[in-house]
Amino acid sequence: MNNLPETALRYVPKVTVIGAGNVGSSLAKRLLDTHLANVVLLDVVAGRPQGIALDLTEASGLEMRPQQIIGTNHYGDTADSDVVVVTAGKPRQPGMSRDDLMQVNGQIVVETIKQAIAYSPQAKFVIVTNPLDVMTYLAWQTSGLPAEQVIGMAGILDSARFRTFIAMELNVPPEDVSALVLGGHGDLMVPLPNYASVNGIPLTELLNAPTLDRLVERTRNGGAEIVNLLKTGGAYYAPAASIYWMVEAILMNRHRILPAATYLTGQYGLHDVYIGVPCRIGQQGVESVLELTLSSEQQAALAQSAAAIQANIRKITQTLIEPAQLAMTV
Ligand code: NAI
Ligand code: 2OP
Repeated sequence: MNNLPETALRYVPKVTVIGAGNVGSSLAKRLLDTHLANVVLLDVVAGRPQGIALDLTEASGLEMRPQQIIGTNHYGDTADSDVVVVTAGKPRQPGMSRDDLMQVNGQIVVETIKQAIAYSPQAKFVIVTNPLDVMTYLAWQTSGLPAEQVIGMAGILDSARFRTFIAMELNVPPEDVSALVLGGHGDLMVPLPNYASVNGIPLTELLNAPTLDRLVERTRNGGAEIVNLLKTGGAYYAPAASIYWMVEAILMNRHRILPAATYLTGQYGLHDVYIGVPCRIGQQGVESVLELTLSSEQQAALAQSAAAIQANIRKITQTLIEPAQLAMTV
């Protein structure tokens, strides 16, 4: 019988977080606090990831955390990651839409994926940078990976916001509420009140149509509401919590059903687009897509959201993806 502590015996996964900004550093802290993984925090700014990593390491003894973090500017340190999370890029400022970030963040996503994939070809990639659905498509094309290994995080966040607003309206704890948002991570997202419930009671039994409309609208503007309050960037605690659950589902092979931006090949009548739909997520990444029955209005709203994403994908792929890579994917 050997006397090594349990943590020394079990495999500790490695998660790379690219972008040591508000979202990336909040995620790194959460991954350590939950003892889920060792973390490599990478940023283009010299000193920033190293400083955050040192700060978190100094807290480790006090928090009784066995997992480790390093901060770096070198992709070599990310080698053999199980999951790579991309949060690198500019956040919105008041008055900006997520689409306004497309060109600048597109360059950053292509650059980071090219470098990360060279060191972790087996990893699952979770994309967070905005505009989310377009950046996830771009990351997938750049990576050359099977689509199930490249997933966009937004649906968990949008659904968490919907759930919170419902809980606030009914004065119940958010954990009693279940809610789902489909579509792109933007103004055209599609919250589904008919799939929301409070401990099994359909939401449509508890709230009237004008109230539901108001909560749907607040959910669609959930990101902008925080940008307008903060004035210097976007939300990060709820985004980091949302990314965490996606990473956990992958690392622990949980087969969870979560809304996520995934590549569609005909589901919901949509082709060649990354967009938020319910997926089963486990060790392989997206294991399957669940097709819900939607009303004709909801189906039309999803199609409209997909069309807007596809128009942006066309714009960005013309300017950023190298011709040789495009030829391989058509
Ligand atoms: P931030 O500005 O606090 O952090 C971004 C970090 O990326 C900075 O530290 C910056 O130095 C780094 N960076 C820039 N270029 C880089 C490169 N080439 N390589 C490595 N690092 C690089 O921004 P924040 O608030 O952390 O947001 C990050 C991104 O995530 C934004 O695009 C934001 O819109 C998006 N976001 C998406 C959400 C979603 O639901 N999908 C939720 C919240 C944020
Ligand atoms: C959000 O929804 C900025 O996309 C980010 O908070």
